[in-house]
Amino acid sequence: MKRRTFLKGAAALGLTAGTSAAHTVVAQSINPQGGPTLPDEIATALARFRETIPVNFDQTYVENVVVPYFLTSFYEGERPMLPLIDLVLSKENALPPDLWGLIYSAWRPTPEEGSTVFLQGLENRGENNLRKRIYFAAMTPDLYKPMYSEKVGAFFDELMDPKFANIPFMRHYLDYYFDIYWDLHLGVKGKAIPAEVREIGEAFNTVLAYLNPMQPIVYENYMVVRKRLDFLRTWIDERVEDISSGRLANPEKTLAWYWLKNAGDGAHFSKKDIVFECFHNFVALSQWGNSLYGIMSRLSENDGDKTVRSSFQKTMSGDFDNANGAPYTPLELFVMELFRTISPNSGSISAIDDARNSAYGESPHRSLGLSFDRDSYLITPHTTTSHSRELWKDPDAFDPDRYREVPTSAEIDEEKCKQIGLARCPFDITSFEVKDGRKVNITNSGFGTVFGVADGKPKPVCDFAGFAPFGFSYRRCPGEQLTIQVFEDFLRKVWKEKIVFRTLPLAKPGRVPIGPGAVIDDDIGFSR
Ligand code: HEM
Repeated sequence: MKRRTFLKGAAALGLTAGTSAAHTVVAQSINPQGGPTLPDEIATALARFRETIPVNFDQTYVENVVVPYFLTSFYEGERPMLPLIDLVLSKENALPPDLWGLIYSAWRPTPEEGSTVFLQGLENRGENNLRKRIYFAAMTPDLYKPMYSEKVGAFFDELMDPKFANIPFMRHYLDYYFDIYWDLHLGVKGKAIPAEVREIGEAFNTVLAYLNPMQPIVYENYMVVRKRLDFLRTWIDERVEDISSGRLANPEKTLAWYWLKNAGDGAHFSKKDIVFECFHNFVALSQWGNSLYGIMSRLSENDGDKTVRSSFQKTMSGDFDNANGAPYTPLELFVMELFRTISPNSGSISAIDDARNSAYGESPHRSLGLSFDRDSYLITPHTTTSHSRELWKDPDAFDPDRYREVPTSAEIDEEKCKQIGLARCPFDITSFEVKDGRKVNITNSGFGTVFGVADGKPKPVCDFAGFAPFGFSYRRCPGEQLTIQVFEDFLRKVWKEKIVFRTLPLAKPGRVPIGPGAVIDDDIGFSR
């Protein structure tokens, strides 16, 4: 195809820099200079594309969300044999561009608005993954019992009050979810959370769950997020100020307090970044919803998984909180196995560039001088990696004891890396001492996995590719142990109060958005 014709096609799609939206597609397929028109085939395709965009969609939304969505490609990556993702697969802005407008007012990354470690390449995080270590300072496992467990316990008590028995559980969970969310982040719950803040949270979750921007429900909720973004930012900023100025009681029971205390000179964790992390975590904590649903489905008395139910019985009939000198307690092992098998997050997402020069010479993109980018992402899969036959003898068995046989992050040192066949650790092992009064160091394994050492005692994670639900290496989820502790508390309560889950006989269960890419029939309830 000649360059001129191709560019006209691109312009018609609204793809060249600064062009208008796909709205104008068909009109522009006629060359105003009277030159050759676009081939019929393209014009027809463009017309069909145009017809599928609902006419009420705002033009800015079409340009910034719908068009980029059509231009984005995802590639399925390999299942890693070691818990590592190469740095060539970048975390920098590794979020599909149709979702940028949910967190950036300008619809695209603008670091001056603040940023999240989740979207930073290692090279931009400060020395030795500094930003990640500061973030992790708020969630090392030693903090859970004294600082967060009371809040989580009160949340589950309210959620599973006998008066809520036998009603669809997930809608009910979502009605309370933002109380625990803001209580943990900023020490605010109940009526102190403004309606606008609840509204944007709910709308954000709905977009994440339905995802496809062509759906009216996504469009409507996306626009609610856009409308409330400034309000939310200002509200969080004021609450962070309450924490830093001592106006909030028990500030040390909030995540933001640890970020403030450990931010150093703010070069890698400014106040704007704290504000940003507080709402970007809508993405992270929304995964508690699909995890919870996955656990209830497996424990369900009438519809669940017998093996998981009997493993739960066995675990809780023993000394479930006693690690006996091992790295993990029996209850922790059980929760880890739930996460491996439920796999609430299906893959780690990395931004990749298409090669503009290869053995074929210049790519058509470069030789044609195209001025638009097609965004490409590679997904390192979690579910299939966690079930890999190369990594586990019996990947499909539900077996919490499997983690006793594979290395922890505290064991992956120089020597272990050499044993595996590497010349050296891919990541230097360094320590960051927290500045909030605790005797806690945040260190890493030779694979880059960050973990805490409290009062000289390491609290490692499983550093093996076969345990993939929280990702890998320097970019692995810092909220992993907090999440495991939250679900341990949930299961302790279920066991202690003899709570059972059942699929409810509902003719038409409500459809509920419970997590990224997850909309379910809300048909499980609890009773005692
Ligand atoms: C069921 C719960 C959760 C699951 C399944 C989960 C899963 C993951 C996964 C797979 C990654 C790696 C993504 C990648 O490398 O591309 C990740 C990263 C991350 N998660 Fe989570 N997460 C959960 C909860 C949380 C919570 C509760 C928090 C915070 C309180 C959190 C904060 C983060 C952050 C900040 C990152 C980016 C880390 C980095 O790039 O260094 N997550 N999470």
